[in-house]
Amino acid sequence: MKRQIFLILSLLAPLIFFSHGLWADDWGDDSSSGAPAYPYPVPLGLKKPKVPQNNPITKEKVDLGRYLYFDKRLSRNNTISCATCHDPAKGWTDQSPVSTGINGLKGTRSAPPVFNATYNELQFWDGRALSLEEQAKGPIQNPVEMGFSLKGVEQKIGRIKGYQKMFKKAFGPGPITAERIVEAIASFERTILSGDSNYDRFIAGNKKALSLSAQRGMNLFFGRAHCDDCHTGPNFSDSRFHNLGVGMNAKHPDLGRYLITKKDKDKGSFKTPGLRGLLYTHPYMHDGSEKTLEAVVDFYNKGGNLNPYLDKKIHPLGLNSQQKKDLVAFLKSLNGKPVRVNIPNKFPR
Ligand code: HEC
Ligand code: HEC
Repeated sequence: MKRQIFLILSLLAPLIFFSHGLWADDWGDDSSSGAPAYPYPVPLGLKKPKVPQNNPITKEKVDLGRYLYFDKRLSRNNTISCATCHDPAKGWTDQSPVSTGINGLKGTRSAPPVFNATYNELQFWDGRALSLEEQAKGPIQNPVEMGFSLKGVEQKIGRIKGYQKMFKKAFGPGPITAERIVEAIASFERTILSGDSNYDRFIAGNKKALSLSAQRGMNLFFGRAHCDDCHTGPNFSDSRFHNLGVGMNAKHPDLGRYLITKKDKDKGSFKTPGLRGLLYTHPYMHDGSEKTLEAVVDFYNKGGNLNPYLDKKIHPLGLNSQQKKDLVAFLKSLNGKPVRVNIPNKFPR
């Protein structure tokens, strides 16, 4: 009898596991497309990250990428790492309106979180990078970020014996190239995922996971306030560009997507950010101009900032103070468990 129960259980186990996989598929997993597999568990509510054909994800690459991500030697004077501006202890951002890079130089935009960046169809606020690999080349060469060059980083990292071993393990024979450096970092980033929030648990059937206020906020978000016109899908972003008028009243506004496409309609439009982990990613918007979620909701409630390029979907919402509170409660319910990572305390020598 005992044996039979054991047998039934062991038959059921893969089924349970599999059905969870199916649930994830509802979000549109495309692992049938022949793309390399994603071998890590995915938090509740998210879909499996897409892995590019030319950069399959392996444990060795992810581990190497983790070291590179935290290594300040990727900057010209060994003072700045990716984690300086995308710090796990600060919600994977720097919690500043704009970032401070090499020699105290300041940029012009707010650092987005790195978790769930794998779900962005395009990277950066203006979408100028097509992949995480391409994105990672940006900060290394940016004069106000890491202030280095691809050649420089190749040579400096290439001389480090410990890294030579790790690159060999991850990529096989051949020199340490900038291409391989960014492939390892991108692989690491694909494992940094924020899901499993109260909202995800609610959707998965735990009706106690959301307060009544957050439930009312959810109905506003998907209903009357139509936030999901743009904040859609498992990471709450359509990966498209919209003008909300943020920063448009500045003397020389940041024109966002227009700087890439040179199309008039793109003036002052920025990529819709995901909405997970918001408790720690303040201040908000591309210029960090909104300090709190309450302020963000007020901004939407008044219909954004009027300007000639304002997105047609943005208009006054007429929410009362309870409804605004409810919407904020819902936004907070999208915060998952902190995304943990093993931060290296010693680096390859
Ligand atoms: C000096 C601060 C700084 C450093 C160092 C830095 N970043 Fe960033 N990062 C930013 C800022 C600011 C942006 C947004 C810039 C923009 O959109 O024009 C950004 C954007 C990104 C994005 C795009 C996210 C999105 O939602 O579009 C990713 C991914 C990213 N950084 C990863 C990295 C990696 C990997 C490194 C190290 C190789 C790194 N960053 C180094 C400040 C920094
Ligand atoms: C027309 C598309 C659109 C609609 C509708 C929309 N958003 Fe946004 N949202 C964006 C864009 C684009 C940004 C970034 C704007 C910028 O920085 O210039 C943004 C930024 C945000 C941010 C800041 C996130 C961060 O990390 O900086 C929050 C929070 C937010 N939206 C919540 C909402 C809520 C709540 C609603 C509904 C009331 C809503 N959005 C409706 C497109 C939209």
